[in-house]
Amino acid sequence: MTAEPGPPRIAAGARLLVTGGAGFIGSCYVRDVLARRDDTRITVLDKLTYAGNRSNLALIEADPEQAARLRFVQGDIAEPGIVGPLVADATAVLNFAAESHVDRSILDPEAFLRTGVIGVHVLLEAVRAASSAAALAGRPPVRFLQVSTDEVYGSVEDGHSRETDRLDPRSPYSAAKAAGELLVQSYVVTHGVDAVVTRGSNTYGPYHHPEKLIPLFVTNAIDDQPLPMYGDGLQRRDWLYVSDHAGAIDHVLRHGESGTTYNIPGSAEMTNRDVVAALLERLGKPWSLVRSVPDRPGHDRRYALDGTRLAAIGWRNRTAFEDGLAATIDWYLANERWWRAAKSGEWDAYYERQYGTRLAAGQAAARVVRPDEA
Ligand code: NAD
Ligand code: TYD
Repeated sequence: MTAEPGPPRIAAGARLLVTGGAGFIGSCYVRDVLARRDDTRITVLDKLTYAGNRSNLALIEADPEQAARLRFVQGDIAEPGIVGPLVADATAVLNFAAESHVDRSILDPEAFLRTGVIGVHVLLEAVRAASSAAALAGRPPVRFLQVSTDEVYGSVEDGHSRETDRLDPRSPYSAAKAAGELLVQSYVVTHGVDAVVTRGSNTYGPYHHPEKLIPLFVTNAIDDQPLPMYGDGLQRRDWLYVSDHAGAIDHVLRHGESGTTYNIPGSAEMTNRDVVAALLERLGKPWSLVRSVPDRPGHDRRYALDGTRLAAIGWRNRTAFEDGLAATIDWYLANERWWRAAKSGEWDAYYERQYGTRLAAGQAAARVVRPDEA
């Protein structure tokens, strides 16, 4: 059951530092919060890696009232000289910055550790220093929100992960995310930092980098290119629409208990096969594009989250999977320039490394008829 939220800990008109705010979920957060026109000011700190894109904030920059409340700083969260002054000027810090793709963490793990562990530590040190200065001046501490992931629980064969379950990360990506969370918890306990953690489910929507399942398959299908499905395609994920994820993060920022972690479940647990069938149907493209290719090493079979704790502070998702998928596909059809740019530069080298031998070894994937089609 969803409860009524209590009074917010962060009120309208706050100054937020949003790291990774030029990425997929971070930019959605920035767009949605500034569009409320409630006087909130946001500074985005983003390194602009291959996954960061300044044009994800173009809608804001085209609106003078919103643009006046946004500042963009290009920089690395692992650099104390950049982070310190920005944190000192903030009411709260939301850390979306991360290397976010499991397959790349298998190919090149180092950047995952630098951003996911050292970067989080640099942010926490700055939050601790700024909170001490605030206490001396009689002001509240700087609240820190760490955006984490369901993947820290590892593969969950049955049931739903609760926040108190053991962490069991199984990829370099999820191990770096788990390490970041543990650092946050240690700063709450040791230094009394005001911090909350969210563990979000697999997210999809507009502005999603085309390396991930849904945007990769949508854009490949538009171009009639093969869709490389790992293994049997019966892995399960619980899909969360991006504005629901961003909204839940904002809700936890304002209503979460310090030192507490909140799962953010999706709205649709599905096999990869069913996701692919749904997106092909919407695009009017044939199943024959799907190739069954050698699996991702250590591939987690299933993620599933228990959302009781989040519901108890008053959050509920708004977007059904069918509606979110339709909006996502329409966005990719209307924004070819955006995704063709993301599939340029280093993309060809990455694609060859990740999929070259897989696609050469791949086979046409058997079409499994879904129960509703039988
Ligand atoms: P993304 O890869 O689209 O965006 C990451 C952003 O962080 C990019 O703009 C990038 O330039 C920036 N960045 C990377 N390293 C940086 C650094 N050292 N300093 C400053 N900026 C840096 O990722 P996303 O999908 O938007 O994910 C955002 C957060 O949400 C991540 O922490 C991720 O672990 C978490 N998450 C993602 C999902 C998902 O399904 N996408 C689900 C749960 C949690
Ligand atoms: P992904 O979008 O990488 O998210 P995550 O690994 O964080 O869940 O992948 C979602 C699912 O899709 C996962 O089971 C792996 C699978 N997948 C493929 O089958 N082929 C692909 O090319 C990709 C990128 C993912």
